[in-house]
Amino acid sequence: HRDLTGIAQLDTHEILYVLEQAEQYVRLNRQPSKHSDALSGLTIINAFFENSTRTLLSFEIAGKRLGADVVNMHAAQSSVKKGETLIDTALTLNAMRADAIVIRHVSSGAVQLIAEKVACPVLNAGDGSHEHPTQALLDALALRHKLAEQGRGSGDGMLNGITVAICGDIRHSRVARSNILCLQALGAIVRVCAPPALMPEGISQMGAEPFHAMDAAIDGADAVMMLRLQNERMDGQFIPSPREYRHLFGLTDARLARAKDDVIVMHPGPMNRGVEIDSDVADRPGTSIITDQVEMGVAVRMACLDILTRKARGVAGWGEGE
Ligand code: CP
Repeated sequence: HRDLTGIAQLDTHEILYVLEQAEQYVRLNRQPSKHSDALSGLTIINAFFENSTRTLLSFEIAGKRLGADVVNMHAAQSSVKKGETLIDTALTLNAMRADAIVIRHVSSGAVQLIAEKVACPVLNAGDGSHEHPTQALLDALALRHKLAEQGRGSGDGMLNGITVAICGDIRHSRVARSNILCLQALGAIVRVCAPPALMPEGISQMGAEPFHAMDAAIDGADAVMMLRLQNERMDGQFIPSPREYRHLFGLTDARLARAKDDVIVMHPGPMNRGVEIDSDVADRPGTSIITDQVEMGVAVRMACLDILTRKARGVAGWGEGE
């Protein structure tokens, strides 16, 4: 593949390959000196048309640790605000001869559209409610690390038979969509839990088991991944009070007790503490891997930038020739 637009384009072997490549960057990032010159001389543009803390910073750090020149374009401070179209913006970035472009956009499909207009690899940093592939890859890596630490996990993907409950605003979540695909490819059983208004149609066709009651969704789960209510994508149509939402769908200590004893708690961030997750659960040592997810994000993004720029660097990609 030239681009990374979604987990849907990857087979299990390719997902495993990215995770394996990311492991070397987890080790590098834990060294005092974290620098590699693998991408020296290359230019990476992070074009973010929607707000971000984790994804933008970790792509920037990833590119810099690999020795690339990294430039960030924030749409709010760009000529997008003067009415420039997405296509014209893409052609402008292309003319600057970037070697990779990382895009976050509010519209599903915008990343694919840009990928069709530019000459370099394009990486999806989250497009609308469609996909957030690097998030799913980093979630899988963090989960595998925690399972290994607990002496659990089996199969090539280390997730065989592991039950993961993804709970919250499934309808608007690109994180849920990418995770359902990625976790299942690695052997996990995926449950999804949301209020009826926030459960997309066709979720069963993706292989995930739908629930509308948190207690049932969490019952016996190995991992619980909480998601934020994406109010910005709801046009005011489903805005319950935070107290009401917490009561029915929040991850509280009492609710978490229904999961396995060594349950793993995950959240992609940003969290709304006291709404979808209580602080004592989010911060619980040994149970919450939320900050580990952030750490794995840098390593996964280094692996993705490394793999997708191999053609430009004359190196075999996606496991070819290894
Ligand atoms: N998880 C995630 O995508 O966070 P940001 O929106 O802060 O990048």
